[in-house]
Amino acid sequence: MNSTFIEVAYLVATGLFIFSLKWMNTPRTARRGVLSGVIAMLVAVGGTLLDPGILAGNYKWIALAIVLGTVFGVPLSWVPLTAVPQRTALSHAFGGLAAGLVGVAEFYTSFGEHGQGFTPFRIGALCLEVLLGFLTFTGSLMAAGKLQELKFIPSRPVVYRGQNLINFTLLGLAVLCCALLVANPERFQFLFPAVIALALTFGVLLILPIGGADMPTVISLLNSYAGLSAVAMGFVMDNKLLITAGALDGSSGLILSIIMCKAMNRSFANVLFGAFGQVQTSAGHAEARTVKSASPKDAVEILENASFVVIVPGYGMAVAQAQHRVREIYDELTERGITVKFAIHPVAGRMPGHMNVLLAEAEIPYEDLVEMDDINPDMSQCDVCLVIGANDVVNPAARNNKSSPIYGMPIIDADKAKTVLAIKRSMNPGFAGIENDLYFADQTLMVFGDAKAVTGEMARALAGEDGPGH
Ligand code: TAP
Repeated sequence: MNSTFIEVAYLVATGLFIFSLKWMNTPRTARRGVLSGVIAMLVAVGGTLLDPGILAGNYKWIALAIVLGTVFGVPLSWVPLTAVPQRTALSHAFGGLAAGLVGVAEFYTSFGEHGQGFTPFRIGALCLEVLLGFLTFTGSLMAAGKLQELKFIPSRPVVYRGQNLINFTLLGLAVLCCALLVANPERFQFLFPAVIALALTFGVLLILPIGGADMPTVISLLNSYAGLSAVAMGFVMDNKLLITAGALDGSSGLILSIIMCKAMNRSFANVLFGAFGQVQTSAGHAEARTVKSASPKDAVEILENASFVVIVPGYGMAVAQAQHRVREIYDELTERGITVKFAIHPVAGRMPGHMNVLLAEAEIPYEDLVEMDDINPDMSQCDVCLVIGANDVVNPAARNNKSSPIYGMPIIDADKAKTVLAIKRSMNPGFAGIENDLYFADQTLMVFGDAKAVTGEMARALAGEDGPGH
């Protein structure tokens, strides 16, 4: 009876996990997706605790783990939105560590209690679990450290001669140890700690050559490793829920990394081994060219005379937390009968869905958020394109300059608009470290300043508080 109940709980949890992923596809249903994931996890944990073999005699340890998890977990949820990528990396690190430790416990208790409790399949799955779990642990800690710009972990790519050879040799050695363990677990038992050490070291070395800003893609890849590690753990412990939930985690992480790579026109190999962002292009070229600038009030006058405005938000809007001021501008313009749309680039900002989350927080109607592929055909009809703290996602070099590191990355065609107003603090480049021809174009006016301060001034001018013509 109990075991049927547990099976049903696992089935319900798996179904809810699947719906959770489905609902997280659009901002409209994302909250429901999160709730469904939380309920699924509660059902899964509740179902597992019903297993008499788990609770009996262990409840003190389980209670202690719940208290510790809560003490560390709740403060982790208080981080600002811009720190979510590193917070997510920390979660993956804990997930990887948990899987790795369970593997270690299984390995030694199987030898201790039952003499030789391993089929080749089970020891193979266990080795995979430990390998992926521990490399995810150190890799994710490194990723979180780079994103947090910790002093002792350089966020720039760290490269040296023979790096890939060293990394692959380490991985090869770990796989060799695993193969020997599968062949004869008794005889090669002593190699198990070496697998752990190699996996921990490989995790660190794998992340060293990757630049801080490439981390979201890598974190998503590490997420998929943690998921695969859970799948292997499911096979080792004969637990179907771990297999299904781990497979969902592993595949969704992989799909997300592929989507991000595609949106940046990069291959996995390029993200993992390309040391992107290391080379900064010549600053001298930037000094030789001039740009036109305008005040926030000039910008407001131009906007008031438009009939179709496209706003392109980027990383700078997120850093400045300008979304609420942008909402006020949106309200003022739409009240004047001006059509306003937001152009959403898939990798604007620093994490998937970054702009959607911020604009949803400011309660901008979902129907006015338009994906890049859908807005681009309309960009030539756009009177004013208002770029707020975005850079790479509107850089025409991605289309025109074959030698540019971002060549081939799909962009929002801001340069096709009749007028471009670009809000940023300076002529500094964005994530890719390259200058942007859009800002030197004839139709472009730079509105220099912090995005929150500038949009705030524009919103006040539009509201007539100190605006032109009022
Ligand atoms: P970026 O190219 O990074 O440009 C952001 C711009 O915002 C900078 O040029 C900066 O110029 C400006 N800025 C910074 N703080 C500001 C502030 N307080 N007020 C006003 N402006 C400010 O951003 P993007 O266009 O959103 O492109 C995202 C980049 O990140 C892409 O290259 C993408 O490939 C990469 N990336 C994204 C992701 C995901 S999943 N979103 C993952 C990995 C990498 P100033 O310093 O002059 O102000």
